Amino acid sequence: MSEGNRDLGERMPYLVQRMRGFGTTIFAEMSALAVATGSINLGQGFPDTDGPPEVVEAAIAAIRAGDNQYPPGIGIASLRAAVAEHQARFWGLDYDADSEILVTAGATEAIATTLLALLEPGDEAVTFEPYYDSYAACIALAGAQRRVVTLRPPEYAFSLDQLRAAITPKTKLVLLNSPHNPTGKVFTRDELTAIASLCVEHDLLAVTDEVYEHLVYDGEHVPIATLPGMRERTVTISSAGKTFSMTGWKTGWACAPAPLIEAVRTVKQFMTYVHGAPFQHAAAAGLRLPDEYFAGLAADLAAKRDLLASGLADAGFTVYPPSGTYFVTADIRAFGETDGLAFCRSLPERCGVVAVPTVVFYDDVDAGAPLVRFTFCKRREVLEEAVVRLKSLGR
Ligand SMILES: Cc1ncc(COP(=O)(O)O)c(C=O)c1O
Repeated sequence: MSEGNRDLGERMPYLVQRMRGFGTTIFAEMSALAVATGSINLGQGFPDTDGPPEVVEAAIAAIRAGDNQYPPGIGIASLRAAVAEHQARFWGLDYDADSEILVTAGATEAIATTLLALLEPGDEAVTFEPYYDSYAACIALAGAQRRVVTLRPPEYAFSLDQLRAAITPKTKLVLLNSPHNPTGKVFTRDELTAIASLCVEHDLLAVTDEVYEHLVYDGEHVPIATLPGMRERTVTISSAGKTFSMTGWKTGWACAPAPLIEAVRTVKQFMTYVHGAPFQHAAAAGLRLPDEYFAGLAADLAAKRDLLASGLADAGFTVYPPSGTYFVTADIRAFGETDGLAFCRSLPERCGVVAVPTVVFYDDVDAGAPLVRFTFCKRREVLEEAVVRLKSLGR
């Protein structure tokens, strides 16, 4: 630690203590490695083509029309209305656009502000591992503790007994992500019903990250807020990034009963306050696209999933085919290796491809050690070239 850092640590012992272990995110490390080595980056999940032209044009039109100043704190009316329409149209959920929807700077801010608003120091939050990395960081920022339930391949199923055991008198909420990053799992209706029953039984809140809600290839997406007793206790989070292939636009939203949205908004106003007025107009246009757009996106990505999953299997990996998201996970033990982190750090040198070790998303290091994640949200020719390179691994 440098002299400067030590001073900072002494001045902010509480924060440093809570955030110990949260260094640079794995995505930053692996994307930098991809650039430095000129490798194909199947590490970070961002598409290499732009989203629908209607959405691009809506952003440009908003800028030209002068929608360039601070938007309202809760988000522009048109986007809040579009989110409400979307929740009703796809999931049969009814939200009031003025009091039950909050626009945020990506799902990331919705997650952070929700956890900061709902968790007190000493509270516990139950989540599933592997978990999206911001969950652990934001639970820690709130001064709360995480309790994790492990999803285990090949189905990435979880033990209901482990979930029951994770719930204690200190548990405030369950933090869920379906479709799930990094595993690509889509939680089944039965699994969600079991989770919902425990939320109702123990009077817990649910925070559900559904950014991949339209990227489902097998099975169905079931928003947990649709299950009995859940709407009134659930904060549902999503964003435009994945649905419209514009991950850099960072426009997200949260839907929840008014008192919960009020609490989240109170925190949000001191984080970003507001953001990205033109992109809010664009996201509103996107959410109103016809059904064919959403079905076409899923069909395109399903074909890419098949391409990469079969290519990885041919290359010698044990593949756990995903039902949704941008990601496929694979086990490296068939190569005689067990350390996914070392494997991913050496992969660019060995074959010019970057992947992400999923062990960094686990508390149970042994459960995650041999697993690595590849993204398939890239052009076909990029995936085909990556497969050719990966096939050279076993040689
Ligand atoms: C599970 C999950 N939640 C949230 C996010 C972040 O969403 P946004 O870019 O809208 O902040 C991501 C992005 O990769 C994600 O995979």
